Amino acid sequence: MNISTYRQLIPSPVALVTGANKGIGFEISRILAESGIFVWMAGRDSARIKEATASLKKAGLPVDAISLDVTDPQSVESAAQHVQTVSGALDILVNNAGIVNERRLNKAGEPEVIPPSQIELNTLRQTYETNVFGVFTVTKAFLSLLRKSPAGRIVNMSSGLGSLTQRSDPNWAYSVVNALAYCSSKTAVNGITVAFAKELKDTPIKVNAADPGYCATDLNGHSGPRTPTQGAEIAVRLATLPEDGPTCGYFDENGPVPW
Ligand SMILES: NC(=O)c1ccc[n+]([C@@H]2O[C@H](COP(=O)([O-])OP(=O)(O)OC[C@H]3O[C@@H](n4cnc5c(N)ncnc54)[C@H](OP(=O)(O)O)[C@@H]3O)[C@@H](O)[C@H]2O)c1
Repeated sequence: MNISTYRQLIPSPVALVTGANKGIGFEISRILAESGIFVWMAGRDSARIKEATASLKKAGLPVDAISLDVTDPQSVESAAQHVQTVSGALDILVNNAGIVNERRLNKAGEPEVIPPSQIELNTLRQTYETNVFGVFTVTKAFLSLLRKSPAGRIVNMSSGLGSLTQRSDPNWAYSVVNALAYCSSKTAVNGITVAFAKELKDTPIKVNAADPGYCATDLNGHSGPRTPTQGAEIAVRLATLPEDGPTCGYFDENGPVPW
């Protein structure tokens, strides 16, 4: 991790992490704050996000709670206004909030992914509202604050399941996971990443997508073999890239992921 290099660029950076009340987003917030970066921990439920920040504040970490539902443009705008008023600028935006809502119980009572032909249009819409339109709404709302930073960084939480190359390879470890809404939403996140990176290529802002790997969180009923802390690491690395770091990329902890 090269947080210290990043901190040489900006001595007192300010970050905002969406979906920060638990799972990987909480860990991203904790690790950034432990390195001295001030973190706005954003959550859609004000009680839950306050509770999450309280535990880190108790440990003396520089964090504060902010209400932000990525599917509600008004709540996103209010959050951006608040950050503008209190912090004046934003250096790091981590679009971490995400959902999976296409699981059901099979006859044996075990969770399974609903086959593509059986999901409802509304399921697809709900997934996209959070995972895709949410990323766009939040990025757009905070972009003017990121433009004020000498070294802005945007990290979009994708997934290995967003890679069309991996998903279409029958030998890929997770090829069996055919969750139409979730997987295609993460492919769209990759598309959004490339689009913003291209627009911002002549600015100091770097835009990258992160694949945290399969981590045990509420998202998957804690079935993943990795910890949320391990999942947070690549996002933290991309959030604190040095000046000569990459933009317009898609990375996991081992390096570039094929689109
Ligand atoms: N876990 C994995 O194996 C894995 C693998 C690849 C990618 N990812 C991605 O990593 C990110 C974090 O997931 P996680 O595994 O840490 O899951 P998680 O523990 O379920 O956390 C998801 C977070 O997103 C928040 N969220 C959901 N809808 C929201 C909305 N409308 N507005 C604001 N926040 C919202 C949740 O808030 P509430 O508590 O209020 O619901 C929660 O804080 C997601 O983008 C996920 O797709 C995870």
